[in-house]
Amino acid sequence: MSTITFDAVDGRDVTDVERVLRVRGGRSLRGQVRVRGAKNTLPKSMVAALLTDQDCLLSNVAGIRDVEIVGRMIRALGGEVQHTGSGEIRLRAGNIAPLGRGEAAEFSGRSRIPVLLCGPLLSRVGEVFIPDLGGCNIGPRPIDFHLDALQQLGAVVHEDPDGARLTARRLHGARIRLPYPSVGATEQVLLAAVLAEGVTELSNAAIEPEIIDLIAVLQKMGATISVETDRVITINGVERLHGFEHSALPDRLETASWACAALATDGQIFVSGAHQLDMMTFLNAFRRVGGDFRVGDGGIEFWRAGPLRSVALETDVHPGFMTDWQQPFVVALTQAKGVSIVHETVYEDRFGYTSALNDMGAQIQLYRECLGGRSCRFGRRNHLHSAVIVGPTPLRGTEIHVPDLRAGFSYVIAALVADGPSTITNVGLIRRGYESFEDKLLALGADLDA
Ligand code: EPZ
Repeated sequence: MSTITFDAVDGRDVTDVERVLRVRGGRSLRGQVRVRGAKNTLPKSMVAALLTDQDCLLSNVAGIRDVEIVGRMIRALGGEVQHTGSGEIRLRAGNIAPLGRGEAAEFSGRSRIPVLLCGPLLSRVGEVFIPDLGGCNIGPRPIDFHLDALQQLGAVVHEDPDGARLTARRLHGARIRLPYPSVGATEQVLLAAVLAEGVTELSNAAIEPEIIDLIAVLQKMGATISVETDRVITINGVERLHGFEHSALPDRLETASWACAALATDGQIFVSGAHQLDMMTFLNAFRRVGGDFRVGDGGIEFWRAGPLRSVALETDVHPGFMTDWQQPFVVALTQAKGVSIVHETVYEDRFGYTSALNDMGAQIQLYRECLGGRSCRFGRRNHLHSAVIVGPTPLRGTEIHVPDLRAGFSYVIAALVADGPSTITNVGLIRRGYESFEDKLLALGADLDA
């Protein structure tokens, strides 16, 4: 299989950010791709390895940028990270020490994972510095829920111009209620409460499959954690935890992107490694819009079953329609007959990417009102968080700059549908969460510069 080589920009040695991908649209994608461990679970399981000084083995690991970044962070903390074979890493955090400010700064702006170091470092060394965080540009991405929960668990937060420094003698259990079922804040409490003294009760918690995957890892390490029917998670603190062996949950967000690529290009794609149970809501929406799928041995096959139909969708926390599913889905909705509505209730600013789709010929209008479903917390604030998509509209190739991970892959899908060539810059961002996506596209018959 030939691999994609990236053109240099003006002959200069380029970084990922400047790399360019050229796509010629008009072909249906057909064939098979493999999806491995999820971008939104692997780094958390790696951070969990910091809770013990024993060996931990993580398998089904995808070769994505976020795993590389967290591996470098764990080494900088004094831990060991070894790739022991295809998709497997061995971690051991024998002796660890907090990152220096310079080291912490190296990770700031590249990932949101540094904020999850608090629990392990406060439990093992009593202090941690969190630099200003990065991650995708889809809203302010505050960490107030995290800091408030850590203070309730006994941490002292020292304000700092470059981030936040926290100290703790010994974390203790607490009854915490999250203002919103935040995935990150739930992970924060899980990673901090497992070695705290006493019991922690977390209500209004997130219960995404990635959360349950982290709980499975912690349970293997010796933790006792229960998830009640009313989104209350109870963590019984223990004195120490041992190592784990775990095969990571497959990436249901990447799977959905390939499914939407099949839908939008009128193709047929078998996603090896995909789990139906983690994608039930997506699969229902996929069928409603005119797609169909077959759950087979070890994966799911997706295709367009007929003319695409417009739908009204609302993103929500699990088990609702994931916010990370809406970007590739909107690209497919530009090819659906009629008027579709997508109401984004998780992030305040997650439709910025639609302006580039309109430049390609899509007809997408954004609104401040809550459209298509119940009113949400953004309804009375000045956020363009509802989209109306009129279709079908022919798309034409253009120059596109990738703003964030999920929108980035969606632009690739739009370019595959468009008439004529597209030049996509800043594609390095897509590698944060999509393993070897260029090679996978080539294998599916995409017409890319190779
Ligand atoms: C995780 O982000 C994922 N990232 C996101 O995926 C995903 O979209 C999101 O969960 C929701 O499912 C990773 O797991 C690395 P949140 P996270 O805390 O934890 C607000 C992708 O493309 N909030 O559930 O940061 C926040 O602003 C990424 O893979 C606060 O107000 O999301 C947002 O509106 C994008 N204060 C809402 O909660 C806080 O302290 C949900 O955020 C924390 C969050």
